[in-house]
Amino acid sequence: MSAKILDGKAIAAELRDSIQQEVEKQVALGKKPPGLAVIMVGEDPASQVYVRNKKIACQKAGFKDVSVVLPAETSQEEVLALIDKLNADDEVHGIIVQLPVPDHIDPEEIIERIHPCKDVDGFHPYNVGRLATRMPQLAPCTPHGVMTMLAKTGIPLRGLNAVVVGASNIVGVPMMLELLNERATVTVCHSATKDLAQKVSEADLVVVGVGIPNMVKGEWIKEGAIVIDVGINRMDDGTLCGDVEYDTAAQRASWITPVPGGVGPMTIATLLENTMQVAYHLDC
Ligand code: GUN
Repeated sequence: MSAKILDGKAIAAELRDSIQQEVEKQVALGKKPPGLAVIMVGEDPASQVYVRNKKIACQKAGFKDVSVVLPAETSQEEVLALIDKLNADDEVHGIIVQLPVPDHIDPEEIIERIHPCKDVDGFHPYNVGRLATRMPQLAPCTPHGVMTMLAKTGIPLRGLNAVVVGASNIVGVPMMLELLNERATVTVCHSATKDLAQKVSEADLVVVGVGIPNMVKGEWIKEGAIVIDVGINRMDDGTLCGDVEYDTAAQRASWITPVPGGVGPMTIATLLENTMQVAYHLDC
């Protein structure tokens, strides 16, 4: 089998267009544009790229962009005070703090300080709890974007054997919850998992988010499986590479996401979607 490509770049462009149209409609009715505050502490190079891309997407969709770049030595108290200010600002509908943060900053306390109704990353324990109890409100952007892509295949997820490789709060755990909520049978693998190859080889759907280039081998993929690669790894020669060995996996899979142009663009489009939900549709 040769896999069909799940074109995240095209699906994200479609989603961003529909968001832009909705914003135009709401603004014509006299509503405020959605406001998104992206806070970055320090100068992590990968974060700088993500934050710049978020800013551009925000502006193109007609959002108010309230990005704040703070020096690496900013204290925990200063970040918390900024969040308090943004929580109280009715032109700001969504607040995110780009991760990772410098070592002296405690990300858990920061995440909990963001009002759950402005937590467009979906990382606050309130929103994680809502997802875990099948009452999702603001769901983490990368896994939710993956669900939007999976819907495009038209393949029902109910009853599929899904294997999620990686158990992070940003990708693996919310991905498990999203798939479980669609009644897939989900196995979550992590660094202590025994015989990863065996687990992956039984999967109808594999989602990999570990940040290790080519960690999942193409030969592990079951014939006809759906392969979703969340990894974006920059190689020494400057090229980007996923967590899955693409060429060999694509020979066995039914659907596969490329890197770049797969899951990556969906994360930003879903962030806009969450922010628009807060601005116009969430009663919270
Ligand atoms: N770092 C990597 N991915 C993300 C994300 O989705 N949100 C935030 N805030 N930081 C990240």
